Amino acid sequence: MEAVEEVKSHLDIVDVAAEYLQLKPAGSGSFRANCPFHQEKTPSFFVNRQRQSWHCFGCNKGGDVISFVMDIEGMDFREALEHLAQKAGVTLPAFNTQATGERRRLQEINDLAARFFRSTLLQSPDAEHARKYAAERGIDELTGDLFRIGYAPESWDALRNALNAKEISDDEILRAGLIAQSQNGGRPYDRFRDRLMFPIQDVHGHTIGFTGRSLSKDAKEAKYVNTPETAIFKKSNVLYGLDKAKGEIKSKNTCVIVEGNMDVVSSHRVGITNVVCSSGTALTADQLRLISRFTKNVLIAFDADSAGITATLRGLDLARAEDFNIKVITLPPEAGKDPDDAVRKDPALWKEAIASAVDIMDWVFRLAFKGKNLSDPMQKREIAQQVLPEIKRIVDPIIRDHWIKKLAVGLETSEDALRDAIGRTPGVRTPNYVSSGRYGSGPARDASDPARTGHAASQTTVTRQRDLAERVLGILLVNPSLRSRVPETLHLHLPDDLSTIYSNGLERYDSARFNEGSRPEEYTTTPEQTIDSLVNYLAIRFDRDYPNQNQDAIASELEGSVSALMAISHAEAQSALEAEMKAAELAGDINKITELARRFKELTS
Ligand code: UTP
Ligand code: MN
Repeated sequence: MEAVEEVKSHLDIVDVAAEYLQLKPAGSGSFRANCPFHQEKTPSFFVNRQRQSWHCFGCNKGGDVISFVMDIEGMDFREALEHLAQKAGVTLPAFNTQATGERRRLQEINDLAARFFRSTLLQSPDAEHARKYAAERGIDELTGDLFRIGYAPESWDALRNALNAKEISDDEILRAGLIAQSQNGGRPYDRFRDRLMFPIQDVHGHTIGFTGRSLSKDAKEAKYVNTPETAIFKKSNVLYGLDKAKGEIKSKNTCVIVEGNMDVVSSHRVGITNVVCSSGTALTADQLRLISRFTKNVLIAFDADSAGITATLRGLDLARAEDFNIKVITLPPEAGKDPDDAVRKDPALWKEAIASAVDIMDWVFRLAFKGKNLSDPMQKREIAQQVLPEIKRIVDPIIRDHWIKKLAVGLETSEDALRDAIGRTPGVRTPNYVSSGRYGSGPARDASDPARTGHAASQTTVTRQRDLAERVLGILLVNPSLRSRVPETLHLHLPDDLSTIYSNGLERYDSARFNEGSRPEEYTTTPEQTIDSLVNYLAIRFDRDYPNQNQDAIASELEGSVSALMAISHAEAQSALEAEMKAAELAGDINKITELARRFKELTS
């Protein structure tokens, strides 16, 4: 807990951001730059020294120095903290040292094993057949070096002996997953034997495990053998190749996902470097979270012999629920069964397939319409039954609507009929784990609850009200002297969350509070943090809205915004009353009508 504050108090977020970005001064205490987290031409990324926080008005992301480093370096919380501690010259107090020590040790052992396998492949006289196999698969020296591809000799104890000679105990090698203990308590033996070895690295390039491919074509044993689950390796948490692909994924803002290790290796060899593989399984939440550090756009290539379409689609449910933009890559039949085959036939086949990836929904449409006779109503229904559940899974209502329209046109049926049918399609659970606090009057966030005023205000009114309210609070926050100029009832005209902040007293948030109080070690969001980051956002927003205006101009902005805000509130209250009046008239409730008429007069006088 203190570690976080200690590190933060030794660093200035502006200095840290300046290492990555071209910052230009903007407003009272902010600097701006082109946002590193999305593509843009005019800078909407702001970082503020007083508040030690940042916000991008383009992608609506924001936070403190730790979240900045997490996002820009693709690190998790602990990694970012350690990285910053090093920069600040702060020694982290016993930061779970035992576990960290064990992790380091296991990584070190895996790293030594990778070296052993690599040099065995390159030098051992007994590895002739492995060298031949690697060459046949197109693994040249450069690619082999990059991926550290090696060979585990046909021996029960070669690796174990090599590691023992480096003072590594059997117990440690066992914990690293490199040897296995025989059932009858005999001597432990090397897990990987006579296999081509692919070290598996985490996102930072630490070797955490292996997958070993059998060299024989008609493998009686498993084609690939993996490191079992260890303290540092869990197959479903890693994406093979991500450490090498992450830079290109970020700069292309696209990640190609393939099924096999060799698909990644071969893609790299021919210069396609934003490629990772999920090692033959459906994408897990952990893998998606890793990818989302770098992009939300994924292109997926399925092997020609993959499990059916439905299984394939279900494997992507999580990604779809998390609002990834997903395109599907289809290899032409002559390219072979997977990207590795395609590259070996002709790299252009693979490159063209990537370039002609189609939106997952277009792909669903194509498959559903394929070979169907549209003059047969039963076949139309089949198409609808195949496509509608997929439409239902789309999170964004506008995009969902787009596909309903398209399906209606394709089936020559009415949208109403499809909406009726979709209502009866089995429901979809939408998992939600990547959530970030979002503010601002953009459509990305939930506006204040319109129910508060007793009736549903239109979305534009809510957005406008929010915008004005944020503006007003931003001004008051940075210019305390103007606080006397607003009516005492201001809080009644603010959306709930802003009203809370205002009623709590803005002076509480005047100073940057980043080195007061406490923060939990992990990035769970407490209500207090949510308020803190909202306030930081408001202050930064002020710098964006008023980069260099004088006090008088700002004062009149304040007055204008406050009266506009109150006008909206009044209009809302008025139309709410009107609605109630109508109801009372219909019910013939004379007392109610009189009462409402009185209130109406009060409001409009
Ligand atoms: P595939 O069976 O599609 O093999 O498995 P591949 O990638 O085309 O392999 P090559 O080209 O024949 O060498 C896809 C991926 O699933 C994992 C591996 O990561 C593999 O690359 N896998 C496959 C396993 O972990 N274990 C297995 O027994 C098979
Ligand atoms: Mn293959």
